[in-house]
Amino acid sequence: MKNSAPIGLLLRIVIASFPLALLMPGCDSSEEKGVESPAPPAKSKRKPGQPEPYYGDFPSLAKVNIRNAVLEELTRDLQYPWAFEFISDRELLLTEFSGAMKIFNIESREMLPVEGLPYIPSGKGQIGLMDVALHPEFSSNGIIYFSHAVEDASNPEMRATSVSRARLSGGQLSRVEQIFVATPFGKSTSNFGGALAFDSEGYLYITTGDRSVRDNAQNPGLLTGKIIRLTDEGAIPPDNPFVGDDSTDDRIFALGVRNPQGLYFDPATQRLFEAEHGPMGGDEVNIIEAGRNYGWPVITYGANYTTHRIGVGTAAAGMEQPLYYFLPSVATSPIAVYRGSMFPEWDGDLLVGPLKGGRIHKLDLVDGVIKSEQPILEEMEGGRIRDIKIGPDEAIYILTQSGGRIYRLRRDTDSEELEHPRERSGTRVYRVVCASCHSNGSDIFPQLADPDAWIDRLAQGQAVLEEHAINGFGTMPAKGLCDLCSDAEIRAAVRYMVEQLR
Ligand code: HEC
Repeated sequence: MKNSAPIGLLLRIVIASFPLALLMPGCDSSEEKGVESPAPPAKSKRKPGQPEPYYGDFPSLAKVNIRNAVLEELTRDLQYPWAFEFISDRELLLTEFSGAMKIFNIESREMLPVEGLPYIPSGKGQIGLMDVALHPEFSSNGIIYFSHAVEDASNPEMRATSVSRARLSGGQLSRVEQIFVATPFGKSTSNFGGALAFDSEGYLYITTGDRSVRDNAQNPGLLTGKIIRLTDEGAIPPDNPFVGDDSTDDRIFALGVRNPQGLYFDPATQRLFEAEHGPMGGDEVNIIEAGRNYGWPVITYGANYTTHRIGVGTAAAGMEQPLYYFLPSVATSPIAVYRGSMFPEWDGDLLVGPLKGGRIHKLDLVDGVIKSEQPILEEMEGGRIRDIKIGPDEAIYILTQSGGRIYRLRRDTDSEELEHPRERSGTRVYRVVCASCHSNGSDIFPQLADPDAWIDRLAQGQAVLEEHAINGFGTMPAKGLCDLCSDAEIRAAVRYMVEQLR
């Protein structure tokens, strides 16, 4: 130590800057683990403190600090799939747009047809079989719900979104019963909505599209362009927000939506998330609350496909702002909230599947606000994401329309990181904490790039160096001032330093 005067100043800079950086996963990308990575080139031109280059299969996951994930294609045998649910740990119940339902076993990879569906019109535009949902007591009563287009009995050219329920047993549907039709019927072949979700009290939510008659979304007497809330039998819950209001249909829970194909109830926060296709540039993610008006077509961030302005602008009194909107449009379809310990860094994040491009938009939701949007899994083949579900194993299952594929994204269970999922790698801790002194070019601190400064120190042995780094040594502060770092993380950082010095 030649001079210790500037240390105080440096310490203050260090204290001010690094703990925050460490709290924000994704602010740098220096994990060193790659799964199924080809061997890195023998010669590395890296300087100490620089992150390991990433040679793995998923650069888009590396960007968000996930380096030990595996993406598996479970099948590519589906024809225009739309949605799925887990009916057991191993089995998925899937819908195909043309009106077929299938059960897929993710272990045996067997695909079985489900028999007993009613007639479902399909073949034109967005007319067909859509979402599927399970009764909250499905495991004992076998009841499922599915949304689909129906024809007006007196004029088959006129159609509406409807929901049926049935009992599923041994690949056979019985007691099929239509419980809802989103009248009025219309000629348009698009904007059916059709997403289904149950909340934790057992109420069923249904999204209905505006059927391309925009103003109907604001008409409280019509069921198109709405969020509907029903009991499991299709009856009106007595606490629905408009019960007793003569001008509004009692089944309406919220109004003013365009074409919502994503609906997800998050039991942890009791929030109902919706994703909807806007006009050009106006795709939205909303948190749906009772009695609210989500503005379509009075307010929107989009323009008409002919680029004419729609409505009065982006805001109006009494109308909700979206939680998030996409510019330009990505054609938002499914939405899910990640909950689980397989990807703890994503806990509570929204996963939005677009129909444009094969990727997922990961939205980081903090205190009710979207803090960042990251495209992930751009490496997937097969675009148009139709459904995303978190499996009972906490892996992420993705259904793509193009190629009729089901993907599973899971963490590599052979990876040691699973045991300490929140633990940061030595490289990362070094870069974020230690580099501020040991790679700052100052001769006050022993520089990692200067092997001479380390000869005597290394001679003490690994255990002593780790102990000094954890408890402090001379003018080296304990843990390099990182109160948030675990002992294991500091040891990993020392190991990283010693490797660089070899
Ligand atoms: C605020 C500046 C600062 C930070 C931050 C810092 N160090 Fe140090 N470190 C020092 C100084 C100064 C010394 C030399 C201490 C001495 O010899 O008196 C040192 C020495 C060391 C030594 C050698 C100890 C010995 O026995 O000679 C190790 C190992 C070490 N640091 C590891 C780390 C690790 C790991 C981190 C990050 C977690 C870190 N340091 C962060 C300033 C820092």
